[in-house]
Amino acid sequence: MSGLRGKTAIVTGGGSGIGAATTRALAAAGARLAVWDIDGAAAEAVADEIEGARAYTVDVSDRAQVDAASAAVLDDFGSLGVLVNNAGIGTANTIEQMPVADWQRVIDINLGGPFHCTQAAIPALKVDGGAIVNIASIAGKRISYHGGVNYTAAKSGLLGLTRHAAFELAQYGIRVNAVCPGPVLTPMVESVTDAAARAVTAGMVPLGQWVMPDDVARCVVFLAGSDAAMCTGASFDVDGGMMVSNGTPYAAYMAHRTQGEAS
Ligand SMILES: NC(=O)c1ccc[n+]([C@@H]2O[C@H](COP(=O)([O-])OP(=O)(O)OC[C@H]3O[C@@H](n4cnc5c(N)ncnc54)[C@H](O)[C@@H]3O)[C@@H](O)[C@H]2O)c1
Repeated sequence: MSGLRGKTAIVTGGGSGIGAATTRALAAAGARLAVWDIDGAAAEAVADEIEGARAYTVDVSDRAQVDAASAAVLDDFGSLGVLVNNAGIGTANTIEQMPVADWQRVIDINLGGPFHCTQAAIPALKVDGGAIVNIASIAGKRISYHGGVNYTAAKSGLLGLTRHAAFELAQYGIRVNAVCPGPVLTPMVESVTDAAARAVTAGMVPLGQWVMPDDVARCVVFLAGSDAAMCTGASFDVDGGMMVSNGTPYAAYMAHRTQGEAS
């Protein structure tokens, strides 16, 4: 009883990973899906799985494309109830070595994209209230594990955008929240890690395994729906306990404590 039945939902970056899982989960809750992705074929493949879903080829960092796709969604579906700002990328240089173009591209997509999509969605969301869910990251609260300073800065900025937009849009009954995933096994992460690095990361997670895209998607469905009717401006960690970790590999921490040594 999430109140999502019949609501139109846009999921940016819906063609892969967390976005694809979120698209499927919102559809299972009864929403009508507009799948946005810069990779049109990936968006098509996910939309094809879901009755009534439509795919749109959109680069969220390009305001003209965002405006055109927003208008197309209204033409196709007639209303909008949910926006999930999920599209994102990462690069892995140090701040000393980072090309300016890498800095700018990540900021433009991971922070500029949610700004453009939010601003474009406001007129339609105002009609009947609505929900925006921003996929940030625990990197926005500490530092990125696999990305660079551009990624950390963009995700911190997205948490600020979430709080400020929540405050201003509350007057229209539009709620704005963020989800902060920990390490999630998706194509984005697989492209910048090998098996050994992935095993090290799993060992750092108190709950003992990588977060999966469906774990994040369930939190998005909660925040998008009426069960979260009084949640706005908040961020929710879906991280297996990473944010309460002291940085010690979990098994090493427990072994140390079991031996009764204090540090
Ligand atoms: N995987 C993780 O560990 C993790 C952790 C925390 C947060 N996140 C965030 O979750 C979101 C999804 O990540 P994922 O791991 O599923 O990645 P992914 O690479 O599997 O999927 C990202 C999707 O976004 C699309 N995309 C990229 N640039 C775009 C653009 N300019 N316009 C529209 N679409 C674009 C890609 O084509 C892809 O389909 C990102 O914002 C990411 O920063 C991921």
